[in-house]
Amino acid sequence: MKKETKKVPLIYPLPIALIGVENAGDIYYTTVSNVSIMAEHPPMVGVMVETTRVIRKHLEIGSRISVNFPSTVMIDKADLCAFVSNDEFDKSTLFETEYSLKTPYISECPVVLILEITDHMAMHRQHFYTCAVKRTLIDDHLSVEENIPSMNILDPIIYGLDGKYYQIGKVIGKASLEGKQLYQNVRKKLGPQPYTFHFKHRICKMKDEGWTYKDLSDKYNVYHETIEDWYALYSLFGKEGLSKKMANRLAGTRFTKEEKRHMAEKIITGEKTYRELCQEHMVSLSRLKNWVKKARRNKL
Ligand SMILES: Cc1cc2nc3c(=O)[nH]c(=O)nc-3n(C[C@H](O)[C@H](O)[C@H](O)COP(=O)(O)O)c2cc1C
Repeated sequence: MKKETKKVPLIYPLPIALIGVENAGDIYYTTVSNVSIMAEHPPMVGVMVETTRVIRKHLEIGSRISVNFPSTVMIDKADLCAFVSNDEFDKSTLFETEYSLKTPYISECPVVLILEITDHMAMHRQHFYTCAVKRTLIDDHLSVEENIPSMNILDPIIYGLDGKYYQIGKVIGKASLEGKQLYQNVRKKLGPQPYTFHFKHRICKMKDEGWTYKDLSDKYNVYHETIEDWYALYSLFGKEGLSKKMANRLAGTRFTKEEKRHMAEKIITGEKTYRELCQEHMVSLSRLKNWVKKARRNKL
């Protein structure tokens, strides 16, 4: 059961940021929480600023701005910049400012994005800015894994939409790993599930691009042999080899023990390749391999 609450865009966690811009030699900083990722590739960010904000007058298409993410030790400064206007107090005196691409940014913030405003839309009392990421700067002492520092080291200030600031807790798992066991169990319970044509096709195309069977198997949790089977069919018959029609055809082909032994012998003696036999007899690679294995142990 759910109950309906106040209509708020309850998307969380929401990091607190300070946007910075320079105009006619003056620097303006303002606290915002309405900053979001619009796309990773190309890197795009959306920023929402209310019409009444002083900083708004200095934002236009082509302007460069910084989005500075303070850590929790900066909570007092970040909060001050959220209720005092640049009209009343020069907020730039609170920070040490540095420049990148001629754009002012706050040097004590561990992560800074330098953005260029590419588009702008006015809506109600808000202005929405689409921005291209020009630079992503992180403190040089931060240890990074795959270019991204740990969220716990960054220690961002999180806004809860309930008027309170929060702190990030602990690492609780790794992406694409935590659900792996569950996925395996669920698949086991469901029994053999046909993989979709598009999925098989994507994997075969990745194999063409140079992915190894092992990497594909680890990434998608599909047996190595199954992928080999798909790829063999794909190499022989193109996309058609991955179709349902082909799968039914392969499943429907029955062989006597004698025929299986005969095919296995052709492989063992080198008379035929797996590829040739797959094509000639419409048999899957994994079945052929199985027969060869059994024949080698005299169990076929
Ligand atoms: C938690 C929090 C989040 C805020 N987020 C935004 C925001 O996303 N956009 C905005 O225009 N104002 C936001 N504000 C309000 C501005 O920070 C505030 O009005 C500031 O004083 C404006 O400064 P300025 O008028 O000098 O630009 C937020 C305030 C708080 C407390």
